[in-house]
This record gives sequence, structure tokens and C-alpha cells, in this order.
Amino acid sequence: MKSTPPDGPRFISLEGLDGSGKTTQIDRIVDFCEQRNPRGVVVTREPGGTEVGERIRHILLEHGSLHPQTELLLLFAARVQHIKAVVAPALALGKTVVCDRYLDATYAYQGHGRGLGAPLIDGLSELLAVPPPDLTLFFDVPVSVALGRRAGRSADRIEAEGEAFFERVREGYQTRVRAQPERFVVISAAKSLAEVALAVDAALAARL
Ligand code: TMP
Repeated sequence: MKSTPPDGPRFISLEGLDGSGKTTQIDRIVDFCEQRNPRGVVVTREPGGTEVGERIRHILLEHGSLHPQTELLLLFAARVQHIKAVVAPALALGKTVVCDRYLDATYAYQGHGRGLGAPLIDGLSELLAVPPPDLTLFFDVPVSVALGRRAGRSADRIEAEGEAFFERVREGYQTRVRAQPERFVVISAAKSLAEVALAVDAALAARL
């Protein structure tokens, strides 16, 4: 293949609370990446992204009751399959991977939200050689805004958690940003769609 992949970040994750609006911006992000990388872009998500991963997603989001540790291990089972079957092969071909949620969600939701703590997630990530993303766009919104946007929509098992849970999740994300500021771009996502889109463009232009 004659085209060369860009030197900049090629494994990009999108993070934020449910209702943060990150998924609404995904087409724009993918278009931007496609212009930068002649080898192409793979758009994927976690939990999910593979056949088995989507089945695990169904259990995670629709099953009535799961122990937090079961939830964590199911997420990692889906993640390993996703990395081996989708993420690593795409990166090896020089493609860009845009992943709607990834490892930081586990620190935020299971580590902080469920209270499992970071060391367990650190340990599993190391044991399973989970690669970190190169760049993470964190769509940050106050919990009240996220809950307001979701009002009237049916909630899955995790979305059905209360305000205190999502406050912990947001704190979890903010802790990750403080620990690894160079990897994150924080987008203030409480603004209008147009303003968020401009912030996304600016972040990508600066980093890609
Ligand atoms: P989504 O609706 O943005 O696709 O995300 C599905 C849900 O999965 C969302 O509520 C966040 C949750 N989740 C975790 O709790 N831990 C994780 O590691 C990931 C990737 C997602």
C-alpha cells in the first residue's frame, strides 16, 4: 500500500456520561479522521464491537441484576475480544480507530460508580495487555444536564442508576483527566450542539 498513515494519534476514544452528547458528534469526528488518514477509519464501540461483545453488551445493559465484579469481568471479556479482533488488526493496518467508550469508562463507572476502585482495573488491564488510547475526547457535562437530556427516554440497566452514581462516575472521569492530562481533551458538552461541534473541530485540528 502506497499511502502512509499519519504520525499523530490513531487510537481515539470518546467518553462521557450517558446524555453527554458524545455519540451525536461521532460522524463529525470520523469525517475529520478520514480526511487525515488515507488508510481509513474503523468506528466501533464498547461494550460491543464484535459479535460476542454485542451479546455481552446485551447482558450488561438488559440483565436485571449483576454483581459489580461480574459486570467488570464481562466488560473485560468483551474488551479482550474487541481488541484482538477489531482494534489491534485495524491499527496494524495503519487505520484510525474511533471507539465510542473504552477503558476510561471502566475506571469511571465500575471503579468510581460501583466503588470497585482503580487497582483492580489497573491489574486486569496489565494482565490482559489492554492498550491505552492515544487520544481521548471527554465530553463533560454536569449530571443534571445529562439526566435532563435523557428524561423521557427509556433507561437501560446502567442508565437507571441514580444521580449519586453519575456524580461518582463524573468524578471518576475527572480523576482520569487529572492523572493523564496529555491524553485527554475535555469538551464542555453542556453547550449547544453547534458550539460543541466547534470545540470538537478545534480539538481535532490541534491534535491530529
Ligand atoms: P453507551 O450507551 O454509551 O454505548 O454505553 C453503554 C453503557 O455501558 C453506559 O451506560 C456506560 C457503560 N459502560 C460501563 O459501565 N463500563 C465500561 O467500561 C463501558 C465501556 C461502558
